[in-house]
Amino acid sequence: MKKPIIYITRKIPDEILAPYQDSLDFRMWEEEDIPVPRNVLLQEVKEADGVLCLLTENMDRELFENAPQLKVVANMAVGYDNIDLEAARERNVIVTNTPDVLTETTADLAFSLLTATSRRVVEANDYIRAGKWNHWSPYLMAGSDIHGKKVGIVGMGRIGESIARRANGFGMPIMYHNRSRKPSAENDLGATYMDFDELLREADFVVSVIPLTTETRKLFNEDAFEKMKTSAIFINVSRGGVVDEKALYHALNENTIHAAGLDVFEEEPIDADHPLVKLDNVVCLPHIGSASVETRTKMLHLCMDNLLAVFSGEGPITPVNNP
Ligand code: DGY
Repeated sequence: MKKPIIYITRKIPDEILAPYQDSLDFRMWEEEDIPVPRNVLLQEVKEADGVLCLLTENMDRELFENAPQLKVVANMAVGYDNIDLEAARERNVIVTNTPDVLTETTADLAFSLLTATSRRVVEANDYIRAGKWNHWSPYLMAGSDIHGKKVGIVGMGRIGESIARRANGFGMPIMYHNRSRKPSAENDLGATYMDFDELLREADFVVSVIPLTTETRKLFNEDAFEKMKTSAIFINVSRGGVVDEKALYHALNENTIHAAGLDVFEEEPIDADHPLVKLDNVVCLPHIGSASVETRTKMLHLCMDNLLAVFSGEGPITPVNNP
């Protein structure tokens, strides 16, 4: 029987493909660091039964209209704002994502940003590299404490809860805002629910783990930054689109808030000339929230398992839609 054709939008290791090769016929963009050009993708999806894509691919209506055979899109990310779910549903295309496997790793990175910004880790490292460390002195690179400070988590999903568990270890009071109350976070982690504005006013660290949707686009705007404490540190490990970056730059530059740790940006990638990169009170990372070798490998396997499960008739393991 003819094997389903799967188009993979980035070069991934042969060891990942090997266990699935008897059942699936792979075609792949052969570059590891360069996204597949749009025209190539539009051409390749014409014959594809399944696609394994990254968050760099805009899986929009035009793409679905070009893919008459397509049954499933396996997105190698937990967020799926790069996919037009409505267009997928209209064409009965199943969309899957990679929840759970990346939860702890992403929470680790959120905490890395929290410690890096409050204790000025990157700035201090740059200070030595620039040959500026001549003496020890009482307030040399003095930052702010983490223990005992209030963390406000915006978006109490799996990653939010995982960040809260780490915050418990640091002795931080936990506040959260979410579309719905989370009894598990309140009972098991001692998290206090607050409305958004109250959280902004109270938190020492405001951590964004909220997905990008029409409702959350530019949620962190001028108004939001003005409500935060002047000592507040803003951390974003969700999507750049939830932030108004001009407003954030202004807030950081004018000391409306104290610092920011950012793993994600409105338009990615950013370059060294990006205004936020120029600020000493900002730590910028190239969207590496889930980037441990172990977790990225699990994410790829979960994509493959989803594709296989769809074509074997078992149904997707981690669907985000139900066409
Ligand atoms: C996700 O999974 O949505 C991350 O942003 C990529 O690791």
